[in-house]
Amino acid sequence: MKGPVVLSVASEVFPLAKTGGLADVAGALPPALAAEGVAVRTLLPGYPVVLAALPTADAVHAWPALHGGPARLLAARAGELDLFVLDAPHLFDRSGNPYTGPDGKEWPDNGLRFGALARVAAEVGRGLVPAFAPDIVHAHDWQAGLAPAYLHYGPGPRPRTVMTVHNLAFQGQFPAALLAPLGLPAHAFTMEGVEYYGTIGFLKAGLALADRITTVSPRYAMEIRTPDFGMGLDGLLRARAGALSGILNGIDTAYWDPATDRHLAATYDARSVDRRAANKAALRQRFGLDGKADAPVFGVVSRLTWQKGIDVLVEAIPDLLAQGAQLALVGTGEAPIEAGLRAAAAAHPGRVGVLVGFDEGAAHLVQGGADALLVPSRFEPCGLTQLCALRYGTVPVVARVGGLADTVIDANEMALVASAGNGLQFAPVTREALALTLERAVALWRDRPTWARLQQHGMAADVGWRRPARQYAALFRALAAEAGA
Ligand code: ADP
Ligand code: GLC
Repeated sequence: MKGPVVLSVASEVFPLAKTGGLADVAGALPPALAAEGVAVRTLLPGYPVVLAALPTADAVHAWPALHGGPARLLAARAGELDLFVLDAPHLFDRSGNPYTGPDGKEWPDNGLRFGALARVAAEVGRGLVPAFAPDIVHAHDWQAGLAPAYLHYGPGPRPRTVMTVHNLAFQGQFPAALLAPLGLPAHAFTMEGVEYYGTIGFLKAGLALADRITTVSPRYAMEIRTPDFGMGLDGLLRARAGALSGILNGIDTAYWDPATDRHLAATYDARSVDRRAANKAALRQRFGLDGKADAPVFGVVSRLTWQKGIDVLVEAIPDLLAQGAQLALVGTGEAPIEAGLRAAAAAHPGRVGVLVGFDEGAAHLVQGGADALLVPSRFEPCGLTQLCALRYGTVPVVARVGGLADTVIDANEMALVASAGNGLQFAPVTREALALTLERAVALWRDRPTWARLQQHGMAADVGWRRPARQYAALFRALAAEAGA
């Protein structure tokens, strides 16, 4: 039997364009699904970096005017990815961050930009490109959120739709006046449709109108049905609970592999964990940390935002230092948090090392050289850095929320007795709770045989895409069968 055909729609796809985990997932899931008999093509915007990476892309369709300018749909292949690229210079020919301008503010026309992406997804979904007839349109996050709406309100038969929430905090709300420019019918502007508190809600539309909703961990799928984590959408998500499920993310275990990672000073595997010492030395050198034998290094690889709890970490730096530990952090984000971190580094030279920026090599070195990885998120749909940490023998110390709670097994006494613990969890996300857990982590680190067991359990964990890809494949098959019935 022929497997389902899927059009995946995302605003960033690794390795072509990335600001966070969405890109990792959008880039790694399609090849994993191919192994399950699901054929995926991915639609993404033609930012300059994307077009530069695909010089031989072919035009398969042209629009004289799409949301204010001419546009073309390109087809290309990059590595294992089959791509459609929306080349619309008036919308996407802007360098830097995909969502914000040089002033750090959202582009004012983001509604039209990502509305165009979703609109084209729906057209492709309805057979715009001969020889590509998807059974399913899979929309990722608010940027693709209108795709289910365009398909719902459009004419005739349509493919099934799946809306995947990577982060409920970003919802894409735009003025009601955009309804006509976006080409949505007036009757779409209702509570059952795209209307959201008087605006057009892109994510809301996807959540209301997609055939199925998934998010990136089972626990987050529960959390978002509560007011505490629902970000105003918990009512809708409760109403749609029957269509909502959580599928844990994986990581690309070929790319994130300590045995072959070219960013490391020394490669290693579970049998040669002692070789990590060379990476710890390289990490210390890169982050300006002193070479103290009895000091564990806590690493952080993160966006520097409220979500990630980095402000709480800044408060807890004195507690971390009081334990004799060091901090190596690479990240970029909100100016006040960046400033707080820079100040801490200046106040504690040799003990706090901060690299402000997006630096792939530094991220790998932290994973390969730090003793533990700190992820103090207030909420975390899945989180990928703790999965990388497990694979690299870096013991994750995480907040007990979302995908962090679903992937890290706290090394409490019973978990240790059962040979299951692979990290540490804490709650709530406060300086006090974090400080206590840092104390517990350092005590465990000083107990070398126990720490080594935690590392082994982490490195043995199955963090790849095979298991989650099977779950997506089952969902897609079930949906395709419904469509055919
Ligand atoms: P989110 O998508 O919420 O930012 P995830 O943990 O899902 O969080 O994914 C973050 C991804 O971005 C990981 O691949 C991580 O290694 C990477 N990353 C985050 N910050 C940086 C940085 N400053 N430099 C390099 N990579 C980073
Ligand atoms: C989002 C979430 C993160 C998740 C990633 C990929 O950016 O913040 O938790 O891992 O998407 O799904």
